[in-house]
Amino acid sequence: MSLAHAQHSNGQPTLSERADALEEHMMHELEHIVTKSVLFGMADGKVEMESGPALMAKNPGKYMLMGEDPRLPKMPEKPTLVDYFRCRFASTSHLLQSATHALKGGHSEKVVLACLLHDIAVVSFIRCDHGYWGAQMIEPYVDEEVSWAIRAHQALRFFPDEEAGYKYPDMYVKLFGPDYRPEPYIVEEYNRARNHKYYMTSRLICVNDIYSFDPNAKVSLDDFVDIIGRNFKQPKEGLGLDSSPSAHMWRTMLWPSRFL
Ligand SMILES: [Fe+2]
Ligand SMILES: [Fe+2]
Repeated sequence: MSLAHAQHSNGQPTLSERADALEEHMMHELEHIVTKSVLFGMADGKVEMESGPALMAKNPGKYMLMGEDPRLPKMPEKPTLVDYFRCRFASTSHLLQSATHALKGGHSEKVVLACLLHDIAVVSFIRCDHGYWGAQMIEPYVDEEVSWAIRAHQALRFFPDEEAGYKYPDMYVKLFGPDYRPEPYIVEEYNRARNHKYYMTSRLICVNDIYSFDPNAKVSLDDFVDIIGRNFKQPKEGLGLDSSPSAHMWRTMLWPSRFL
């Protein structure tokens, strides 16, 4: 949409129209044609896509982007989990605060790692069903206790366990309203998880989940580099460039705007 067509009744383009125009302008500045996956547009309420030929016609002389997006922070050739933390995670303070809390509580390294990674899907990938996505992303590289716990926290966080020190978060009442009830599949997941041998690991993610962020808390990824080293099997080819069942998910973060 060009600026000339994107105007409010007062004659001024709206913020989102200006953002669209700027984005289109930037696309023309780039050497290659950058495409958006359908899912990205759905978040704006649109189920639509531009065809390859239409994009080529709008951008004569250019090819589709089939590699890294120059607008994003440059990733090393063989990226590690720490590189994703630094270059692809939009925010890390919640993860670092939760993991710091677990570390100070004297929990095992598996619990600390689970806290450190429990919301990676939220900060880098997809919010909906983030526990499932996050667990799947790390599954090939961690002990099953860690990925199981992350998957189950998706459900457990909606159910209190006062004995374990977890009540339904006030924050959820604020965020979702007092009448919110989880979907039936979440209730079923919770019922299955209750009797699982790793229940308490997942429950500890909830207990250490810091809902009120302290902007002044001093947290650093450096405190966790050794724990990651001992508990996360970093593939030698680079995370995402290996052939694990979830490598494609990391590659998608590496090159989120690749045409195919
Ligand atoms: Fe979470
Ligand atoms: Fe969290």
